[in-house]
Amino acid sequence: MTSVSDLMETMEYGPSAEDSSAARDWLARRGAFGHFIGGTFAEPGTLFDTRDPATGHVLAQVTRGTADDVAAAVAAARQAQPGWAALSGTKRAQYLYALARHVQKRERFLSVLETLDNGKPIRESRDIDVPLVARHFYHHAGWAELRDSAFPGHAPLGVCGQIIPWNFPLLMLAWKIAPALAAGNTVVLKPAEYTPLTALAFAEICQEIGLPSGVVNVVTGDGDTGAALVMADVDKIAFTGSTEVGRAIAGQLAGTGKRLTLELGGKSPFVVMPDADLDAAVEGVVDSIWFNGGQVCCAGSRILVAEAVADRFEALLSARMARLRVGSPLDKSTDVGAIVDPIQKDRILSICKAATDAGAELVGGAAGDGCFIAPGYLRNIGPANPGFEQEIFGPIATLSTFRTADEAVELANNTRYGLAASVWSESAAVATDIAAKVKAGVVWINCANLFDGAAPFGGYRESGFGREGGRAGMLDYLSEIPAEAITEPVPATPVATTTGSGRPVGLDRTAKLYIGGAQKRPDGGASYAVPGGLAPLGNRKDIRNAVEAAAKAGKWAAMGGPARAQVLYYIAENLSARADEFAARTSPAEVDAAIARAFHYAAWADKFDGANVQARPGHLLNVVHEPFGVMGIACPNAQPLAGFMSLVMPAIAMGNRVVAIAAQDDPLAVTDLYQVFDTSDLPGGVVNIVTGPRDDLAKVLAAHDEVAAMWMVGGDLAGAKKAAGGNLKPVWAPDHRDWCGPQAQGEVFLRHATQTKTIWLPYGA
Ligand code: NAI
Repeated sequence: MTSVSDLMETMEYGPSAEDSSAARDWLARRGAFGHFIGGTFAEPGTLFDTRDPATGHVLAQVTRGTADDVAAAVAAARQAQPGWAALSGTKRAQYLYALARHVQKRERFLSVLETLDNGKPIRESRDIDVPLVARHFYHHAGWAELRDSAFPGHAPLGVCGQIIPWNFPLLMLAWKIAPALAAGNTVVLKPAEYTPLTALAFAEICQEIGLPSGVVNVVTGDGDTGAALVMADVDKIAFTGSTEVGRAIAGQLAGTGKRLTLELGGKSPFVVMPDADLDAAVEGVVDSIWFNGGQVCCAGSRILVAEAVADRFEALLSARMARLRVGSPLDKSTDVGAIVDPIQKDRILSICKAATDAGAELVGGAAGDGCFIAPGYLRNIGPANPGFEQEIFGPIATLSTFRTADEAVELANNTRYGLAASVWSESAAVATDIAAKVKAGVVWINCANLFDGAAPFGGYRESGFGREGGRAGMLDYLSEIPAEAITEPVPATPVATTTGSGRPVGLDRTAKLYIGGAQKRPDGGASYAVPGGLAPLGNRKDIRNAVEAAAKAGKWAAMGGPARAQVLYYIAENLSARADEFAARTSPAEVDAAIARAFHYAAWADKFDGANVQARPGHLLNVVHEPFGVMGIACPNAQPLAGFMSLVMPAIAMGNRVVAIAAQDDPLAVTDLYQVFDTSDLPGGVVNIVTGPRDDLAKVLAAHDEVAAMWMVGGDLAGAKKAAGGNLKPVWAPDHRDWCGPQAQGEVFLRHATQTKTIWLPYGA
């Protein structure tokens, strides 16, 4: 007798294509597309084709946006912004809710259009992308309603320029537009050149729901159009795409005062521990690297499997891989669709070739005709192999093994990226331990590639900065500190007054640098004159030594908030005991502020809680605040003691180690703090202090790979931002007129001293 499973194996496969006529009719009806500006579609301009990557056929023609087009769209957004921001939260929420409803009503149409334009399987656009788009608008309708009560003292930024990639065209649009609108901003969005169609369909939905003109504008085009948007009169750029372009944008925006968030590439680890449920983990790989043909920034593209189970895992994996169906994206049974464009296909194949030339073995991964590549993975691949390092952005993973949990973490973190990670173990203790140690903005435990409007998403390290989704995402579309006049002039370069250890006469003190918990002479041996004595003239070597000392003091983070609170209380106490002495060097107000800061952040050290987020049922979803690691802080020149303490205390309270450049013109009150730190049990290397030409030293700090985040007050901020753009670290520029005042203290400092990690943990049942 034939069993059901025999039948399933022997049955002829009959393709079952989704009906694409509604989308094709719409395209035929619309003809060539102009931009969507000020609530209407403009006349088409210079046109380019957008194609169906599965067939190569032209789907439509869209306009290549010029700088003038961008300027017109920005002007429309600028005009609409005050009115939009002035609406009540409830009214804005109603519009966002209507967008969600209309996306749902047109779910099938949008899924088909997305699949036609992008090449992703209809199963994914229908079951994942479009439902998540609706969810994102619903979630943010809530934030629009709650903005004033949930974010008191915050204001919208103004006009946001948003540049998105082609891998999740409509979902990335939702991730960008929903929070921006909820916060009270208006937007100009530029979709990717390969996939502009669902953004144009969304523009039609904006018309349908009667969204006020100019609130959402869509300008189509390529990289040049994107570059024009970056340089246009916008208040923020939100970019998702390649690390190279992200780096260029960070450089261009340095010094403009525009806000920036970047969501860039990744090479995310997929860690299979020896006690993992291997069948489930294999399904996890399917969802990680073969989802959307691997064209996913957070794809689990580096499989790291425990040596003890590697053979068994690989056997299961290759068997599963062989059953994946590659083919027409519109076919409801297709698992892996088309690569978005022939250029991308060639790119994937060239990285695979470089990997095999360097000794790796490719299993599967055959190139088909047209834009198709079969799923595959690279084995026998060392950490230096280009296939292990570079983002392949296609359906090809790497597979390597490890022996111990420590080795797994080391391999996982052996990358310049830090977007996501997936960890598989049946032991919650093991999985959460690894989740805590992996440097990534999102960690999925026993799951992969889960997303939700409530779940912050974004990277560590060169995967960018800023978050999308949830509370953290909203904060990236709000300005947090009322703008105060920037009071920091660029100080003149200090002139060396001595060399070697010689001491000029008539000056009462020669301070030293403070590095690794010890007083150090500056590398160049020179000092410069400051009120009350001489300060060491630090140079780039001193900065490097300070960063090295800070890097070694990682135990500070591991000590935990309660223990750090003790040390900060102790600092406050010891500073109080010497208040008069410090007041004589500065002013009583500065000393009061300095003591207040130590007390305040001691209180916060064990209370800046993350959140357990209500996203999916059946999932524990924790958003935790993690320190950056080593932070660089260029302190204000005015109010040297209050400024220093206002910035350094929150940073270390959160577990960071700091290299601070003290006030250039008057640093001796800060160098006097060494004794306070020494007697307060502050471990060596947690706070390092360098004095000298502040703006030059700040650039060295900002460019240093080991420094994960930078704060700088005034001065040559543009220079520091340019230097930081090289390795994509965030630069925060808090500016206050008065560092003694109450506004120079509070949660906003803690927020900028941390990055969020989102940990997804499904309940096991
Ligand atoms: P891309 O970074 O060039 O494109 C992303 C978006 O940026 C597009 O809208 C594009 O028009 C725009 N753009 C390009 N140059 C620009 C510029 N100078 N200024 C402003 N906007 C600009 O990415 P591309 O070339 O499409 O893909 C290349 C590689 O980038 C992929 O193979 C993949 O490795 C990575 N990538 C990563 C993505 C992610 O989600 N992290 C998404 C897309 C690509």
